[in-house]
Amino acid sequence: MVNVTINGCAVEAREGMSLLSACEEAGFDVPTLCFMKNVNCIGSCRVCLVEVEGQGMCAACNTSVQEGMVVRTNTLAVTAARRANLTAIMSEHRTLCATCVRQETCALRKLASQFSLADARRELPPKGTWDEEFPLQRDSSKCIKCMRCVAECAKVQQCAVWGFTGAGSNLRVVVEGGSSIAESGCALCGQCITHCPTAALTARDDIDLVVDALADQEVVTVVQVAPAVRAAWGEGVGLASEEATPARMAAALRRLGFDKVFDTDFAADLTIMEEANEFIEWVQKDKPRPMFTSCCPGWVRFAKLHYPDFVSQLSSSKSPHQMMGAVVKNSMREEIEAAGKRMFVVSIMPCVAKKYECAVPQLSTEVGPDVDAVLTVRELDRMLRLAGVDCTALPEEPFDDPLGTSTGAATIFGRTGGVMEAALRTAAFLLTGENPALDACDTTEATPEKPWVVKELSVAGLDLRIAVASGLGNAAKLLDALRKGAEKLDFVEIMACPGGCVGGGGQPIEFNKELAFERARVLNALDEDDTLRFSHENPDIKKFYDRWLEKPLSPLAETWLHTDQATWDI
Ligand code: SF4
Ligand code: SF4
Ligand code: SF4
Ligand code: FES
Repeated sequence: MVNVTINGCAVEAREGMSLLSACEEAGFDVPTLCFMKNVNCIGSCRVCLVEVEGQGMCAACNTSVQEGMVVRTNTLAVTAARRANLTAIMSEHRTLCATCVRQETCALRKLASQFSLADARRELPPKGTWDEEFPLQRDSSKCIKCMRCVAECAKVQQCAVWGFTGAGSNLRVVVEGGSSIAESGCALCGQCITHCPTAALTARDDIDLVVDALADQEVVTVVQVAPAVRAAWGEGVGLASEEATPARMAAALRRLGFDKVFDTDFAADLTIMEEANEFIEWVQKDKPRPMFTSCCPGWVRFAKLHYPDFVSQLSSSKSPHQMMGAVVKNSMREEIEAAGKRMFVVSIMPCVAKKYECAVPQLSTEVGPDVDAVLTVRELDRMLRLAGVDCTALPEEPFDDPLGTSTGAATIFGRTGGVMEAALRTAAFLLTGENPALDACDTTEATPEKPWVVKELSVAGLDLRIAVASGLGNAAKLLDALRKGAEKLDFVEIMACPGGCVGGGGQPIEFNKELAFERARVLNALDEDDTLRFSHENPDIKKFYDRWLEKPLSPLAETWLHTDQATWDI
């Protein structure tokens, strides 16, 4: 330990720790912009300046504590220096706060307000050219060159999409190698968006598409909500997590005017029925292992772009919201056509990659694309504010039948390990005829801090080795180990976003807070409270197979719910 003095207080700090951490632990707030713990420590913004006796102004984020240091975080000189640096940053930022999608969550705006800064006075260049169709949007005129996106994409997600040209005031963040974003190796995980402090990176805004469908009298609008949305949708509309219940979310969606409000959890149960049966068949046919889950389009895209040799081992199951779209459009087809209308399916997702996924031509049936539009949770929250829906005053309402019943197994799809855990619960039942002990399938030890976790279990004479990884950097490490033969596995779950969809690129943003763990706790609690914990016990799933599909992996199930992953490229 070393002894330092911060604002006159004697503080003991661990050797090697940064001044920023020492100040935070001692209860002194130091503002930051470019710093991301363990990811980005380039010291470029100089907003975290503190005064160190004998050394002058130092960036707290990349200066280590030393024995006897005397530090001040709150002098007039410190405030003036931080203010000067913020003014320089603001002078390069095209300020459009009144209409900006990040107005509530922009770290720069918050600091500008805290330091009473005026908007830039000189005319700034407009948004640079960008592929407006691509689900990831970039506005270079709002970029403050903090390099957080560069570090997040390269170090955490191992895609290295972003680079830079020039130096000093001419420095520009660009797509690495000068290629277009569509041709880069972007998996569309959206993590650079959620880690950008401003609105320089955003998800494509598809609200108008949905508003047009809602206004069209010839259209029956169907909305579905992903498992992970229920853990986060309240964050942007002022609801505490205990108030932001799934039933209140269903009510909010009805207030927006959707004709049918379905729960993607139903389709998550359907996914488990298909994927668990597929896995058993996979093992019985002794196909090359491991089989990989396919419910995360960020992971599927990453595999196709960066690890194509594993594509043939992806499950053929579509992701739950695509399954739901196919099920709704096909099973309600006669009713809708008889009424002389057409259907528009909207998915509310924690995800940016699903905006791309729903436009893949192969993910459709004879009635058209499975899903017509995907909105992120941030877009949902914006729509609710736009429509003036007072979520705090809403009653709780059920999802619509007949696709409204779901199980706790479906709810945990939203966190890392959840798909695997739900699949194991059902696969064990299918192999033995008995429900396994829930603890035997538990995967809650999986976190993005561990590259991957392995679980070994013995079911009906089968010795299985399964693994769970979240975050594409972790996925890459696992895939490299598989390539080298250093790891042998039967079944692997990969989710592109650290922590799974609860940490998804389409979730609400809180600067410098990783909320995946907290949101996962909400999903785990919903699972524990559910009277149904096994997908195969969902009564609506049983009825649906009886009425439409006969059984998992039947010819019709293959047509509606599966895809041949090898037949389409990015
Ligand atoms: S795009 Fe965002 S995260 Fe990337 S450098 Fe610019 S401001 Fe920082
Ligand atoms: S969306 Fe993900 S893969 Fe694409 S640039 Fe951003 S962080 Fe990288
Ligand atoms: S982990 Fe979830 S939110 Fe992230 S890309 Fe995959 S499906 Fe989308
Ligand atoms: S936060 Fe320390 S230099 Fe940017």
